[in-house]
Amino acid sequence: MTEQDIIKEINRLKEEKNAVILAHNYQRKEIQEIADILGDSLDLSRKAKELDKDIIVFAGVRFMAETAKILSPHKKVLLPHPDATCEMADMVTREDVIELRKKYPDAKIVCYVNTYADVKAECDICCTSRNAENVVRSLDAKRIIFIPDRNLAAYVQSKVPEKEIIPFDGYCYVHDELITQKDLIIAKEKHPDAKVITHPEAREEILKMSDFVASTNGMLTIVKETPYNEFIIATEVDMVTRLKEMFPDKKFYPASKNAICRGMKTITLESIYKSLLKEQYEVVLSSEIIEKAKSALEKMIEIS
Ligand code: 13P
Ligand code: SF4
Repeated sequence: MTEQDIIKEINRLKEEKNAVILAHNYQRKEIQEIADILGDSLDLSRKAKELDKDIIVFAGVRFMAETAKILSPHKKVLLPHPDATCEMADMVTREDVIELRKKYPDAKIVCYVNTYADVKAECDICCTSRNAENVVRSLDAKRIIFIPDRNLAAYVQSKVPEKEIIPFDGYCYVHDELITQKDLIIAKEKHPDAKVITHPEAREEILKMSDFVASTNGMLTIVKETPYNEFIIATEVDMVTRLKEMFPDKKFYPASKNAICRGMKTITLESIYKSLLKEQYEVVLSSEIIEKAKSALEKMIEIS
């Protein structure tokens, strides 16, 4: 089948099965082009809840598809590739959270949405990179355990000094390892007029060299609402694809061309086609996990 044939089939199957394709901002160009809704983790979780569709095909990583399932348990949620995982989410288990709860009984536990459903089920509230600061501020506890991203935890700590944040030692290899200070120095030398926008999963030294820190949708807002015309983007490379498409008159450069998320890139047009055709790989969660994780997610959505 040619690419055009695959796209035609995807559209036909979507109609036939009353399905919708949600895609994260880090998806490949061709996936961004066929998606019904593109967004960051917060946006996509909200949209998944509102949509009147029978099937959601989630072009993103597993924790995102699980979030859609938790918020819309009666819909069939499909992850197009079984290896579409977030390596940061893989770093923390439910048992880790239970241990931390025992160790710090007075603390509230905030879990980044980049976690699996059973981990969310043990936490008090979820957050995304867009609302982490507000979520932490909203809690009536002085001590906050922040799971699993140590870099996002440090960023939130700098914004909310009145609380004591206990970070978990997880990280995202794309932001923590594949975007280095040297990469950013070189990019700034090449594009001295460009403003730097960085995702808060990056290391502190990268954040310090940035003009703005934002979630992926936050980046779209900054570009839209500021007068600047050139930007260095310190996050996954396909965010640049998304920005170029939305703002064709502005210039965008990736801070590092190596910042590629392996999990996100397992999704292809062909895997989406097969996913719709065979209704694979369905996200299945127990009703007990759904109920507990839903409470943490809905508390977050309430204050977002
Ligand atoms: P956003 O919520 O900013 O889209 O980030 C999700 C993510 O996985 C970043 O690496
Ligand atoms: Fe996870 Fe990092 Fe990929 Fe985001 S970029 S999905 S945090 S591995």
